[in-house]
Amino acid sequence: MSPETTAVDPRPAGWWKSAVVYQIYPRSFADYNGDGMGDLPGILGKLDYLKQLGVDVVWLSPVYKSPQDDNGYDISDYHDIDPLFGSLADLDAIIAGVHDRGMKLVMDLVVNHTSDEHQWFVESRDPASPKRDWYWWRPARPGFEPGAPGAEPTGWKAAFGGSAWEFDERSGEYYLHIFSRKQPDLNWENPTVRQAIYAMMRWWVDRGVDGFRMDVINLISKPAELADTAPPEGQAYDANFGSVMNGPRLDEFLAEMNREVGLDEQQLITVGETPGATIEVARSITDPDRHELNMVFTFEHVSLDSQPGGVKWHLAELPLPVLKKNLADWQEGLADAGWNSLYWNNHDQPRAVSRFGDDSPEFRVASAKTLGTVLHLHKGTPYVYQGEELGMTNTYFTDISQYQDLESVNYHAEALSLGLEAEAVLHSLSVKSRDNARTPMQWNDRSHAGFTEGIPWLPANPNYLVVNAEAAVADPDSVFHHYRKLIELRHENPVVVEGRFELLLPDHERLWAFVRTGADSSLLVLANLSREPLELPVAELPDLTGSTLLLGTHGAGSPTVLAPWESRILRLA
Ligand code: NOJ
Repeated sequence: MSPETTAVDPRPAGWWKSAVVYQIYPRSFADYNGDGMGDLPGILGKLDYLKQLGVDVVWLSPVYKSPQDDNGYDISDYHDIDPLFGSLADLDAIIAGVHDRGMKLVMDLVVNHTSDEHQWFVESRDPASPKRDWYWWRPARPGFEPGAPGAEPTGWKAAFGGSAWEFDERSGEYYLHIFSRKQPDLNWENPTVRQAIYAMMRWWVDRGVDGFRMDVINLISKPAELADTAPPEGQAYDANFGSVMNGPRLDEFLAEMNREVGLDEQQLITVGETPGATIEVARSITDPDRHELNMVFTFEHVSLDSQPGGVKWHLAELPLPVLKKNLADWQEGLADAGWNSLYWNNHDQPRAVSRFGDDSPEFRVASAKTLGTVLHLHKGTPYVYQGEELGMTNTYFTDISQYQDLESVNYHAEALSLGLEAEAVLHSLSVKSRDNARTPMQWNDRSHAGFTEGIPWLPANPNYLVVNAEAAVADPDSVFHHYRKLIELRHENPVVVEGRFELLLPDHERLWAFVRTGADSSLLVLANLSREPLELPVAELPDLTGSTLLLGTHGAGSPTVLAPWESRILRLA
């Protein structure tokens, strides 16, 4: 046989549908050089751990050169690694190390904006520069003195507080930044900007990366006129980028990117982060016939525990039927065209077990496992965020000085200046701050959870003495091994990948039940999302006679009663 016929294609068509992605937030994962900040050599040393978990893809949050105003989501050089994390040679070693273990590597792609220290923006600051038009520059509002209060071109607010427009003394104009003032938005209307981005992406593909996670990609197309528009009924345009989401040329830009970089042609995995995207938007982006992206991250299910209006700090109760319905709606909406991504956690969200589960010592393990069961048995590509496989919890900081994230720190200052009660603000932070996800990965019970031999940039959660990878790997009943088995189940059972999804008993307030129906088998998932035992309403469920348990969170129990936070995956006869 010729070598061509024996070579295994590393990226066969649609490979990402049966894959599980593991997200690494590099600054909090593993510190090799002892400076208190995670780094690439630290990650390299943990690849065997990821292989043992069984994930297929490793996604790295940004490690590019950056002033770190937003922990690397403000990139000043797309072709280099920040010295905090290591070097390009270290990244090459990770690409090789991941591939040697049969896994793949995804880079974060942050191209809605750059850092204000990126050479493109430095040049753009000069009104005479050919790069002036690479960003969004606008004069003061007519009738206003440039730089005067209220003179900003529109009333848009930035996601991290204050106006979305920053005044630049030198030219007397303002530039747009949907995020911090150190994250100016790129002007995708300019074809030269787009080509520069595609060239950069090709450079990374040539280096060996297998795909991209695209930061706030549905903000790249701005409305033709940057103008104040009225927010939809009952909504405020502060934190939800209302005026700039899902713009008119979004599909066109993504299709162009796909063509120019060869995303589909090379079977690269692509996932777009899309705040505010509806099911319709997601379907048009992920319909394979349109050749845009494989999947997107919806924000709907992680917004349900906030009051309507889009401000995440305004907390609300989340009844189970509301959460179930939202996930089921996305399953149905993308059943025939498009593809779902499945996630509870990432570096921007509080820890799932504290948010949707029960992080008390009694139920932490069971509820973390059950959340995993439910998520991984939906149809789509699951994402595991570092530490989720251990059931890592929120931080429960009590003082503003403990927080590092600019979003949290800015919100605290802004909320207090508006007269909100300090205690309530701290409570919202403790529930929703992004720092909950960013405390160091808990490797063992030694100092700083084995994350660093120095002083960590953010303190480890004190529960590392109990919650850590070393203990979890050694315990066959741990959350880690449950996640490992869920991943294995997906790899071995096509029904987990392709089976049609049907939600049962949508109004049940404690039971999450659904069926996955494939070509030659059907699975029933039953999960008790509460701390009380749950008598199964057997008359309203498919016939359990002859069914077999594929995976459960508890040992043998009553066939008709679920223990607190118990879940079961059954193959129906
Ligand atoms: C989404 C990223 O996930 C978040 O961490 C970041 O702050 C914003 N985009 C801006 O890049």
